[in-house]
Amino acid sequence: MNMIDIITRKKAGAALSRDEIRCFARGAADGSLPDYQLAALLMAICLKGMDARETADLTLEMLHTGDVADLSAIPGVKVDKHSTGGVGDTTTLILAPLVAACGVPVAKMSGRGLGHTGGTLDKLESIPGLSVEKTVAELIDQVRRIGVAVIGQTGTLAPADKALYALRDVTGTVDSLPLIASSIMSKKLACGADAIVLDVKCGSGAIMHTVEDAKALARAMVEIGRLCHKPVSALVTGMDQPLGTHVGNALEVKDAVDVLSGRTGGDLLTVSLMLGSKMLLLAGAARTREEAEARLREALDSGRGLEKFRQMIEAQHGDPHVVDDLSLLPQPKVKRLVKCGRAGYVQAMETTVLGLAAQAMGAGRVRKSDVLDWSVGFILPVRIGDQVDADTPLCELWARSEDSADKAEAAVRAAVRIGEGRCERPPLWFAEL
Ligand code: URA
Repeated sequence: MNMIDIITRKKAGAALSRDEIRCFARGAADGSLPDYQLAALLMAICLKGMDARETADLTLEMLHTGDVADLSAIPGVKVDKHSTGGVGDTTTLILAPLVAACGVPVAKMSGRGLGHTGGTLDKLESIPGLSVEKTVAELIDQVRRIGVAVIGQTGTLAPADKALYALRDVTGTVDSLPLIASSIMSKKLACGADAIVLDVKCGSGAIMHTVEDAKALARAMVEIGRLCHKPVSALVTGMDQPLGTHVGNALEVKDAVDVLSGRTGGDLLTVSLMLGSKMLLLAGAARTREEAEARLREALDSGRGLEKFRQMIEAQHGDPHVVDDLSLLPQPKVKRLVKCGRAGYVQAMETTVLGLAAQAMGAGRVRKSDVLDWSVGFILPVRIGDQVDADTPLCELWARSEDSADKAEAAVRAAVRIGEGRCERPPLWFAEL
């Protein structure tokens, strides 16, 4: 198969055959195709698109360049959940134990932070001692024993995506719907769950900025699921402001424990319950959304969700006492309260800028080799639509130095717009598929 022909055909807008797509995916995974040809085809796909059949073929071909985890030794329907990435987006730490407390096994492989978005593995590793490095056999054993495990992706899952994602990052070809959909779905299918719930984020802190683009991405991924005979459902949820009030690794664990203990709720709990309900429905553990949500609420109110989180931490060699004493989580050198400084209404947030501010403080990696500071980030109690006065707390910075706090303070002030006009709260969710 000739790669120049494949590039030329896509440049002319033709639909590629399964064989042509296989040649592309395998060539990316095994390094037999040069980067310049891969990049040329990526750009042609960006400009000319792919139809649903091509997108599904690309997903499957990328998937089959690596291992597919076999979770069949775990009894029951295993439902995975994936977020397309956001800020303060800590739903996994809440819904994994809650869903498991409802008797549905959760065997989850998660990722690390990417750019301005946080990653579940980094958050979990902020718990002293906790390990996310487990084999698939250990994952299975833990889920059989306690019903839940959240670990790093093991083995070589979708190596074609690894190669192509790195190239897309440096060739201006990230924002292509078929490339995003096949990238996410090839990795998710490789994790071996029986069904998948997708949380497609939309807004100033998300990969998709408009509702229409987010819905189109959700539709494309649900369609891939249908073509692969894998039940997939999706929610399109808002990311015009951080989902939880805490941004940073240990801070987001604290947010999750606060929610699981019933001390706080808010948008983070609401979205966690919506996604968790979809997981119970796909697993056949509830017949209606109302029944699913009632089961999750019962697990929350009875403390069984928090207990499940404690068990998971212990099973993964973390200190389970953090659940009762949050001061055992890493603490920063500097804590600084920042006030709003003016009266008015919170009108908008540049959520990507907020995520980048946390990253610059040390909560995320700028270079792959960066070592994270788990203790840093900020608590942002204000929400879009809130009325504030000059003394209302805008944020509490947890920083490693006064200099870092100064920079973060300037970034948060610039990212949160306070003005005179009253402002509506943005919707929490936009569509369900
Ligand atoms: N996340 C992914 O895994 N892949 C993309 O292409 C975009 C976001």
